Amino acid sequence: MKKILITGGAGFIGSHVVRLFVSKYADYQIVNLDALTYAGNLENLTDIADKPNYRFVKGDITDEAFINQLFENEQFDGVIHLAAESHVDRSITDPMAFIRTNVFGTVNLLNAAKNAWKAAYEGKRFYHISTDEVYGALDFDATLFTETTKYDPHSPYSASKASSDHFVRAYHDTYGLPIVLSNCSNNYGANHFPEKLIPLAINNIKNNRPIPIYGKGENIRDWLWVNDHARAIDVIFHNGKNGDTYNIGGINEWTNIDLIRKLCEIMDKKLGREAGNSAKLITFVTDRAGHDLRYAIDSSKLQRELGWKPSLQFEEGLEKTVDWYLDNQAWLDNVTSGAYQKYYEKQYNR
Ligand code: NAD
Ligand code: TYD
Repeated sequence: MKKILITGGAGFIGSHVVRLFVSKYADYQIVNLDALTYAGNLENLTDIADKPNYRFVKGDITDEAFINQLFENEQFDGVIHLAAESHVDRSITDPMAFIRTNVFGTVNLLNAAKNAWKAAYEGKRFYHISTDEVYGALDFDATLFTETTKYDPHSPYSASKASSDHFVRAYHDTYGLPIVLSNCSNNYGANHFPEKLIPLAINNIKNNRPIPIYGKGENIRDWLWVNDHARAIDVIFHNGKNGDTYNIGGINEWTNIDLIRKLCEIMDKKLGREAGNSAKLITFVTDRAGHDLRYAIDSSKLQRELGWKPSLQFEEGLEKTVDWYLDNQAWLDNVTSGAYQKYYEKQYNR
């Protein structure tokens, strides 16, 4: 019986990881620790909330006394750390929140794991989930980010994630803490908070509101279906080499404008609108400060060493994602109205 702490499990990617682990590993105990910030939503997990191998704990990874006590009480065998402030635009207006959670919170967890596991590291693992944004920005040439690309973060978000990555490796090198890291490209799929490009655009198209495109829309992102990221996390957690890093990506680069045009086509079809109707909502707005031009991941190490590869073609994934948002209007309404933040009180604070 393994007991695994998943942090940030009420968020977008975390909820898919929690669902995968709870469903696939009936013999594991999965503890989901989440502070339920604006980005945390337990409605993402209603289908597995009552499973006997799952438990939710509300708590903040920056709370030192609470985290130390939790590790002492629970005796975790592994940690999969996803809790973070994750939106670049928010990091530009409130960088301190990113330093608190992404840097201080991560170091707090590392200390707790080190102390709880100091008698024997055997069989323990601290898995830190990171982003390709730590590598900086690529030009339009053929280069891809590999695991040895030098860190060169530009936004307060990517700087905070880079810092947390360095701390994770430092705890391995200094204290021998068993760790593994992965750096993933942009995810898309169900339960994505509608401040990020794809769900924001779906919501706006549906409601006939302008779709804001930063600058000229020529920035490039490499998109991966969130379920494929969760599958990669499963493989790396179980089979990744101690102390190693794996890049995860979709081999799927799109300029923002081409992506949004494709999304508009899909939405026209799904909503029974005349072709070209949704694209009229595209509105070019002031560019993001320090906007990275291009991210693109070389995931060949993960494919070669651990046998993972993306399962879905992008167009199929986008259609599935649009279908999910159209079928889950209540989720979207609750998220956009803020009503989802009451869910925890109803379920747990009776
Ligand atoms: P998200 O913003 O959807 O979810 C973050 C979760 O962390 C939320 O549930 C939130 O309540 C929780 N959280 C925030 N601060 C906390 C704190 N102090 N204590 C406890 N919980 C806290 O983020 P996401 O998009 O699911 O990203 C998850 C992880 O994956 C992050 O570490 C992010 O850097 C990384 N990542 C994201 C992407 C992407 O495209 N979204 C790509 C690569 C890597
Ligand atoms: P986002 O989803 O915020 O992810 P990230 O910044 O982590 O890559 O943005 C994806 C791309 O879309 C990025 O190049 C910024 C751009 N963007 C827009 O053009 N308009 C928007 O309203 C948003 C949120 C993002």
